Amino acid sequence: MSGRRDGKRWSPPLRRRLRSGPDWAAQTPTWRQARPALIADALDRASARPSGNWFVVGASRNVRADDRPYGRTVGGVEVVLWRSEDGEPRAGSGVCPHLGAPLRDSRVVCGTLVCHWHGLTLDGSPSVGWQPFPVHDDGVLVWVRLDAVGGEEPTERPVVPARPARDRGVDAVFTAVGRCEPQDVVANRLDPWHGSWFHPYSFVDLSVAREPRGDEDDAFVVDVSFRVAGRLVVPVRAEFTAPEPRTVVMRITDGEGATSVVETHATPLTGPDHERPRTAVVEAVIAASDRPGFALARAAAPVLRPLMRRTAGRLWRDDLAYAERRWTLRSTGLFPG
Ligand code: FES
Ligand SMILES: [Fe+2]
Repeated sequence: MSGRRDGKRWSPPLRRRLRSGPDWAAQTPTWRQARPALIADALDRASARPSGNWFVVGASRNVRADDRPYGRTVGGVEVVLWRSEDGEPRAGSGVCPHLGAPLRDSRVVCGTLVCHWHGLTLDGSPSVGWQPFPVHDDGVLVWVRLDAVGGEEPTERPVVPARPARDRGVDAVFTAVGRCEPQDVVANRLDPWHGSWFHPYSFVDLSVAREPRGDEDDAFVVDVSFRVAGRLVVPVRAEFTAPEPRTVVMRITDGEGATSVVETHATPLTGPDHERPRTAVVEAVIAASDRPGFALARAAAPVLRPLMRRTAGRLWRDDLAYAERRWTLRSTGLFPG
């Protein structure tokens, strides 16, 4: 079982435990374990993995067959996405080849993109100078392949993390934008040690049970309790991996909501070497449980609620602040790591 990778038997804690608090300052400092070189090495290994030039652009459900197309700028390239009448995703340049209208503001009529300036129609195939981009809909997220931005060897498909079976999961996708580069978002996620210090409102008792051991077994195994409400916490074991340069996956391997995953995808919005880079953090939470239907949502909710609250909550803001701070220090040569 994947939760036992440290070789030790994992003894399941009480399903729910009441914690007395506040004891934030009394917890064990983690800074000695959170060695900058270890995080940097994990980041280097992640960065060296192939992405095939695929970039997450957003939630599948945001790309529609009617009404409005979906637009994003990725690596400085305007991209527009929509669906054909039979639901197939389409993607391509977001700049109209006629006189440059922003196609993200155009309309989709019966699966065809119709430019709102002079009525040029695009069905997704190359047309009068407009070029489609390869697109992949994995059922939760939509990816586009931008070879000029990625600069790697292109691949047929993106690296999509393993997920709970469709009929056992419920998903939600959140997006936020930070002033940093994708590597800053990934580095934040590859530092699990900050969890209960920096986010005490969401996590308590975080400890890293096993550090990554290089390419062959490159996972952080983390024991942590999610704060549900007040003193009520739910302990789980989770594993963090980076299957490609812009993705970090947290998989719950033991405890409530086991097999649930939280995927963090960092997509550059600005082009390379931009003076003030911006990065979209697209986070997919795929909650799973052996229990069907309503019971599934209820079973997974205690663990996933803090994560689902990210959009409105401090967790997002704090992690983005961490990533932005890292970029600011890097860009001025002051980063101590
Ligand atoms: S700019 Fe799109 S049709 Fe003219
Ligand atoms: Fe965090």
